[in-house]
Amino acid sequence: GTVVLAYSGGLDTSCILVWLKEQGYDVITYLANIGQDEDFEAAQKKAESLGAKKVFIEDLRSEFVEDFIWPTVQANAVYEDRYLLGTAVARPCIGRRQVEIARREGAQFVSHGATGKGNDQIRFELTCYALYPEVEIIAPWRIPEFYNRFRGRKDLMEYAQKHGIPVPVTPRAPWSMDANLMHISYESGILENPKLPSLGRCVCVSVSPHPGSSPGPGKSLGHTDTDLSSATLRLIPNFMGAGEGEGLGRCTQLGPPEFQPQLLGTSLFHWLRRRGLRLTALKAQGVPGLFKPYNAPHMWYKGPSLLNTSHAPADLYLMTKNPEDSPNIPDVLEIEFRNGVPVKVTNEKEGKSKDSPLEIFSYLNEIGGKHGVGRIDIVENRFIGMKSRGIYETPGGTILLKAHLDIETFTMDKEVRRIKQGLGIKFSELVYNGFWYSPECDFVRHCIAKSQDNVEGKVQLSVFKGQVYILGRESPKSLYNEELVSMDVQGDYDPCDASGFIRINAVRLREHHRLQGFSGSN
Ligand code: ARG
Ligand code: SIN
Repeated sequence: GTVVLAYSGGLDTSCILVWLKEQGYDVITYLANIGQDEDFEAAQKKAESLGAKKVFIEDLRSEFVEDFIWPTVQANAVYEDRYLLGTAVARPCIGRRQVEIARREGAQFVSHGATGKGNDQIRFELTCYALYPEVEIIAPWRIPEFYNRFRGRKDLMEYAQKHGIPVPVTPRAPWSMDANLMHISYESGILENPKLPSLGRCVCVSVSPHPGSSPGPGKSLGHTDTDLSSATLRLIPNFMGAGEGEGLGRCTQLGPPEFQPQLLGTSLFHWLRRRGLRLTALKAQGVPGLFKPYNAPHMWYKGPSLLNTSHAPADLYLMTKNPEDSPNIPDVLEIEFRNGVPVKVTNEKEGKSKDSPLEIFSYLNEIGGKHGVGRIDIVENRFIGMKSRGIYETPGGTILLKAHLDIETFTMDKEVRRIKQGLGIKFSELVYNGFWYSPECDFVRHCIAKSQDNVEGKVQLSVFKGQVYILGRESPKSLYNEELVSMDVQGDYDPCDASGFIRINAVRLREHHRLQGFSGSN
């Protein structure tokens, strides 16, 4: 049979591709461009070289924004009060095109590389079943012959070597990432320790393997005359450990570990930087022989004096700047909404204005990213029933959430808003759990969309140091009545009516007190 494999270009799905071929399938690979930073051409070549019958690279960015992100904006969709669902909304988008391709190519099977413990498998597969009821799903990470054969990354690497699958040269970050236009998520690996801080102060070490050689650009962070002849490096981790990098051997400590001197092979800093690692503190304490192989600890850097230099390596986050390092001048934006979705964003000072959905969202990502907006580090409840620790950055989505909440409350009837708010929570759970394509989600989505008929107008806001500050709003559909609310004008309102209103509301409270009063409580 023929199988359409959701292919990422990475090691896992490359092995799955070859493994599926081994099982006798014709494999079509499908890679969705939903805004992740990826070399699509390289992935295409790779899939072809591994024997994919056909290779589809699909640019879904616009439909991702319009069909999937916009409904979450209308809903103010937030899972468990914090997570903006960046991965969850992408899955039905990816799955929809996947089954389209499967149908078109006459493929009975679809496959993916999601693990057997997560939400993603559910989201993919519910989407596929809902849109292609006859489909058969191959989830290798739930097939014993597959997962018993590939028990770790080492097995995958060995298999790759044996089957001519290009093995990644850059060692992977010691966590799993999922990136798209809306967000990047980080979880698993060393992040499974919920206590390990997602961002600490930055202190880095640079160790040159060759004494006296000049460090390459960006390699050395400075010099110090500190006598390290009897030093030990103790790295108190921000994210430390779980390395399999060249020259570093295996370090699986999650810390706060004693950094093992024998692991100091190549340039530590370089190694760390490639992983986006950042260390929180560095202490020198007496242990001799640390730098023996190279016998000159002549260059390293010891915080905090060099904090925030241009040499400071990136922390884990890739879309957003650390608010501590973000500009000291805010960006002031005006976002215009119609039917509860943004139709235009203007940055007057920059002389910029965007009006297509993809451009609007990308621009909000840029501004949010520049000012460090939308970072969260949470423990959440997976549909499967386990808790998991996740770190997310959703810059544009966070700006839109704040702006939309503002214009919505300005233009929406109070009671409609209450009902709609409940639907938004329901919607978020459905999306998180993978039920985008279900009768109930369809119904809820339509109700929410209906509630947005009058959600129209402009919101002015300032983006600064990780925050979004609303500055003002205006709307032709505003329900705000300046005359009615004014302290100085009577308006269409008689204050005497309030006396009766309050006394009627007090009936129940007074009765309650009469009873409670006798039983002695107050
Ligand atoms: N926990 C988040 C969610 O369920 C993120 C999942 C990330 N997926 C991944 N394959 N890394 O939506
Ligand atoms: C995965 O298991 O593939 C990622 C985590 C998740 O789906 O929740």
